[in-house]
Amino acid sequence: MALLGQIDAVAIDGPAGSGKSTVSRLVADKLGYVYIDTGAMYRALTLKVMRKNICLGDEAAIVDLSGNVDIQLIPARSGGPIRVILDGEDVTEEIRAMGVTVNIKHVCKLAGVRENMVRMQREMASRMGGTVMEGRDVGTVVLKGARSKFYLDASFDERVERRLAELRAKGQPITRAEVADDLKQRDHTDKTREVGPLKKADDAELLDTTDLTIDQVVDMIVLKVKGK
Ligand code: DC
Repeated sequence: MALLGQIDAVAIDGPAGSGKSTVSRLVADKLGYVYIDTGAMYRALTLKVMRKNICLGDEAAIVDLSGNVDIQLIPARSGGPIRVILDGEDVTEEIRAMGVTVNIKHVCKLAGVRENMVRMQREMASRMGGTVMEGRDVGTVVLKGARSKFYLDASFDERVERRLAELRAKGQPITRAEVADDLKQRDHTDKTREVGPLKKADDAELLDTTDLTIDQVVDMIVLKVKGK
C-alpha cells in the first residue's frame, strides 16, 4: 500500500547491540514485509575488498569495486536470518568474522561507496514492495520517506552484554573488555562519519530497549506501524 509521498517501508536505525537486527527480522515477519539488512551489504563489500587484497587506503579502487559488486539478500522464512550472496557465493557466515568487523570502517566512510550502496538499497526497497530496512542512515538518508521510522538504543553496558552473548553463542573466543572496546570504537566511527553518520531522524521514534525483551520491542513497533 503506497501512501502519497511516502514509501511503504519501516526504517530501523541504531547503534551496534541495540537489538535492531533481531527486532527488524521479526517485525518484517509479522508484517509480511521483506527484511533488508544494510549492514550486511557493507560487510559483503568489505569482504570483497579484503579478498581482492585491495589496500584499505585505496579509495578509488574501493569505490570502483562498490559500483561493480553483486550483492543479493535472500529472505529467510519465519524470522530467520537472511542469506547474503556475494557474486553468487553464500557469504552469510563469513561476513560476521572479526576481520570484516574491524576493517569495515575504512569502507563505509567513503562517500562514493555510500552513494553506490544507497542506490542499491533504494532499488531493493522499490523492487520488493513493503520492506523493513535496518542500518545507520536508513531514516536520515536511504529511505527518508519511509512510512514509519524507529531509532533503537540501549545502555552501553547492556549492548556489551548482548554482543558478548551473541559472539560466545557462535563460539568466538572474546572477552568482555574486547567487546566493550570494539563497541566504543564502532559507536565513535558510526557517529562521527562525515557521510551517512548514525543519527536519529527528526521524525523517528526513539525506543530505549535496555529493559525490554525482544518480543516487547517487536510488538510495540508492529502496533505503531499498523496504527499509522
Ligand atoms: O549492522 P552491522 O553491525 O552489521 O553493520 C556493520 C557496520 O556497517 C557498522 O559498523 C556500520 C556500517 N553500516 C553503515 O555504515 N551504514 C549502514 N546503513 C549500515 C551499517
